[in-house]
Amino acid sequence: MTDSNITATLTVHGETYELPVHSPTAGPDVIDIRKLYSDAGVFTYDPGFTSTASCDSTITYIDGEKGELLHRGYPIDQLAGKSHFLEVCYLLLYGELPQAKDLEQFETTITRHTMLHEQMQYFYRGFRRDAHPMAIMVGVVGAMSAFYHDSTDVSDPHQREVASHRLIAKMPTIAAWAYKYHIGQPFVYPRNDLDYASNFLRMCFAVPAEEYEVNPILSRAMDRILTLHADHEQNASTSTVRLASSSGANPFACIAAGVACLWGPAHGGANQACLEMLEEIGSVDRIPEYIDRAKDKNDPFRLMGFGHRVYKNFDPRATVMKQSADEVLELLGVENNPKLQVAKALEKQALEDPYFAEKKLFPNVDFYSGIILEAMGFPTSMFTPIFALSRTVGWVSQWKEMIADPQNKIGRPRQLYLGETTRDYVDIENR
Ligand code: CMC
Repeated sequence: MTDSNITATLTVHGETYELPVHSPTAGPDVIDIRKLYSDAGVFTYDPGFTSTASCDSTITYIDGEKGELLHRGYPIDQLAGKSHFLEVCYLLLYGELPQAKDLEQFETTITRHTMLHEQMQYFYRGFRRDAHPMAIMVGVVGAMSAFYHDSTDVSDPHQREVASHRLIAKMPTIAAWAYKYHIGQPFVYPRNDLDYASNFLRMCFAVPAEEYEVNPILSRAMDRILTLHADHEQNASTSTVRLASSSGANPFACIAAGVACLWGPAHGGANQACLEMLEEIGSVDRIPEYIDRAKDKNDPFRLMGFGHRVYKNFDPRATVMKQSADEVLELLGVENNPKLQVAKALEKQALEDPYFAEKKLFPNVDFYSGIILEAMGFPTSMFTPIFALSRTVGWVSQWKEMIADPQNKIGRPRQLYLGETTRDYVDIENR
């Protein structure tokens, strides 16, 4: 963080205060209000953090106007096109692209941590079969705190490293087993000779009666889905992980909090909600009715998979995801899938509508990811768990950065209180 030469001047209650302004390496300058309350006795008010930088970070940068997403400076389209998920994991965690030997060692480490403690199976069996896989994941990820005691001391850098590897390595197994339990099939153990994405596909789709041949095009598409969702700066679930960990809570509990936050339909749950919306629309001729509903202020309905808090021109992840959707659907011979037809027509009609143009609403990454995942054979309930497994590396990288930061303090926002002021208790008979 560099101090710029400028300061911001704030006048409040007749007094003037000079506030330092910091210049980032990219993005808007940031007014430092850390001493505002102690100096001026006022708070700032910013529900939803639309104008507030909650931390400093060197991991991910988004320029919402340009539609740019950088991980450690590398554009997402280059990473999605030339790299692969585990290399991006290394980049996010350690800040640089790995040398060949470092990557090999990292891949070996992740591969050797993919099994779950055998006792965790019984934890799964405590859930109802119809439990949503995200509900199971929130529970099982949190339960890792009870199984891996040698990686819960956050003050020990070695334990933090082990916890990071365990989370990235075990998340595919946790997600795949949530799915297997949900559909009543036996758990499939991880296999070390497969790459990360292929191993996940196999754990989801193999059965003891028949081996699952991983199609390399599907495995590549899955790897790309994972890469595109790997991190996204200080979004709701990442901020949840940071806030939870600011108290010194153990890593597994913090990541479980991130999984819980991600589940919401305004965040990671949008991919499931989007597919359900396409199903509900059902046919191209019903699209205008849904577009009218999305525009109606008195109707809470929104076009799922449209809009983004930060991107205001396009979502660069959606551009890559759309290409991937075309490839996968062609490979699987399902280009005429009715939901895809509705999706394509909906995208076109919404983009031509002045309401969406004025509000800068366009398809986000989740508009296309669900279409690919459904074509691969995943039920809608697995879309958000797959997002959670991809985002784990982002949560972990941001968590590690935060714990190692000497400025780390417990997160404790203040409020604009609008309730009653002090009043005396009234006995029940006198109310
Ligand atoms: N359909 C119709 N209108 C919308 C939509 C939508 N999808 N999104 C925003 N608007 C309108 C909204 O009604 C508001 O109108 P007005 O100014 O007249 O009140 C305006 O656009 C701004 O909306 P906002 O809710 O203030 O914007 P936000 O930055 O708080 O919300 C969002 C961003 C992503 C939550 C929102 O666009 C949304 O709910 N989209 C649908 C859910 C979705 O696809 N989420 C996935 C995001 S990408 C994956 C991820 O990062 O998790």
